[in-house]
Amino acid sequence: MGWVKVLAVAELPEGQRAVVHVEDKEILLLHHDGQIYAVQSKCPHMGAPLKRAKIEAGALVCPVHRSAFDLQTGDAKEWIPWPPVVGKLMGAVSSEKALPTYPTRIEEGSVWVEI
Ligand code: FES
Repeated sequence: MGWVKVLAVAELPEGQRAVVHVEDKEILLLHHDGQIYAVQSKCPHMGAPLKRAKIEAGALVCPVHRSAFDLQTGDAKEWIPWPPVVGKLMGAVSSEKALPTYPTRIEEGSVWVEI
C-alpha cells in the first residue's frame, strides 16, 4: 500500500498515544523519547488492547499476560510470563508471536506510516 498520512504531528505530543485506522488495520502510534512508533494496536497473543501498555526498557508490555515486545522490531522479549506458573503453561502451548510494527516518518507536519 505504501506510505499513508495518518495524523498531524501536533496531535501526538511527546508521551501521547493514538489509535488510527488504515484500511483494515488498527494501528497504535506512540510518541516516546522523541521517536514515533507505529505498532499493531492489539496484542498478538489474545488481542488485548495495547493503548495503555507500559513501556519498560524499550519494550511495550501487554497489560494482560505481560508479554513484552520490542518497540523497534516487535520481537517478543518475553512471552506470557504472567500469571506465574499458568503463564508458563500458556506460553508453552501457544507459539511466540512478534508484534507487527510499521515504519514511520514525519513530513509536512504530519505523521506517515508505511503499510
Ligand atoms: S493478551 Fe497479551 S500477553 Fe496475553
